Amino acid sequence: MTISRRKSLGLLAGGTGLLGAACRSEQTAAPFKESGKPLTAPPRTPLTPGVRSTSLKDYYRNNFRFGLASQTFQLENTAPESPIIQAHFNSITAEYQMKPDQISSAEGVYNFAAADQIVDFAVANGMDIRGHALLWHQTTPDYFLTGSNAQIKRKLETYIGTVVDRYKGRVYCWDVVNEVVAQGFEPASQTYRNSNWFQAVGGAQYIDWAFNAAREADPNCLLCFNDYSTEDPDKRVKYIAVLQDLIARNIPVDVAGHQMHINMDTPIPEMRAAIDDVDGLFAGLENHVTELDMSFYNDPGSCWERQAGCDADVGPTPPYAMLELQAKRYKEIFNMLVTRSSVTSVTMWGLEDGQSWLNGLPVQRSNHPLLFDRDLNPKMSVTLLSDPAY
Ligand code: GLA
Repeated sequence: MTISRRKSLGLLAGGTGLLGAACRSEQTAAPFKESGKPLTAPPRTPLTPGVRSTSLKDYYRNNFRFGLASQTFQLENTAPESPIIQAHFNSITAEYQMKPDQISSAEGVYNFAAADQIVDFAVANGMDIRGHALLWHQTTPDYFLTGSNAQIKRKLETYIGTVVDRYKGRVYCWDVVNEVVAQGFEPASQTYRNSNWFQAVGGAQYIDWAFNAAREADPNCLLCFNDYSTEDPDKRVKYIAVLQDLIARNIPVDVAGHQMHINMDTPIPEMRAAIDDVDGLFAGLENHVTELDMSFYNDPGSCWERQAGCDADVGPTPPYAMLELQAKRYKEIFNMLVTRSSVTSVTMWGLEDGQSWLNGLPVQRSNHPLLFDRDLNPKMSVTLLSDPAY
């Protein structure tokens, strides 16, 4: 059986895929053709840092926030990424630096330095802030999960209360729980991920604890239920079931989060169905696309499980045809997203290709999943996304 990339992700240690600067390469411009009709080649110059193309946040302003997962090194005054971020994005998510292992590695110990830097940058630049993530099995320090249920609950409430209160009025939406739903290929009867949290607590009640604690700390913040592969029908059934149950029991969920770590083959109708199934709950939830990127690879499950049978590395200079296909796919996806008024935020999971976690997982390989290349040039995707002709 072929297991999709994201289906296997839960098997791997994640959230630590921070890679150094990758090799720098130039792409070759070539005519962009669709159905045999020559189209305008994307501009490759000027390449000086700064604003180089129509602002994406302005282009989509009437549809949704256009967000970026970022890290502090990109936000320094002298960072070449900073002007691009300011030009194109009006929402920010911490790619790593607001997760529990980063903020509180030991009970009662808090380090907000990096998180503060991200929040301060966003506030200074008039950007909205999505907090990510209060509870994720992969970034939960061990101290959370020891002791009785009452003790675990208290530690979770203390952590969430402290963090949400600190950023009250600045973080407008928190990913409260991340990836708590079982994977699509697991038995249909298994709805919840059999995670460290599920095992420690002996059930899924920790999800309720997390949402209630976040609501108590900030009554005005939007609270998001975030997960991956909602575009996979088997996973989606479970995701919707858990969401429906939370809503039926008045657990304060405001937003359905869809990570959408996709690849070039992901069916767009399934992505649309993920949005529509949430809308079909008639619960008035917003939909956020929380972690969008588009891998060049669609590996079999064996690649994720034992690094066998992986797609061949396309190298640092991707074939033009793949960049063209990616640009068209991104455009089709955004054209779909703007038709759904419940979609109020779309966040890219990284700025430029060399920095993406997908260069390191499931194997070390050049990937090109984002909107800017390794030299920070806007890719053809940016050109198409901000052109109403397509
Ligand atoms: C998940 C998490 C993100 C990020 C990615 C990639 O999707 O939600 O925070 O860590 O994995 O590692």
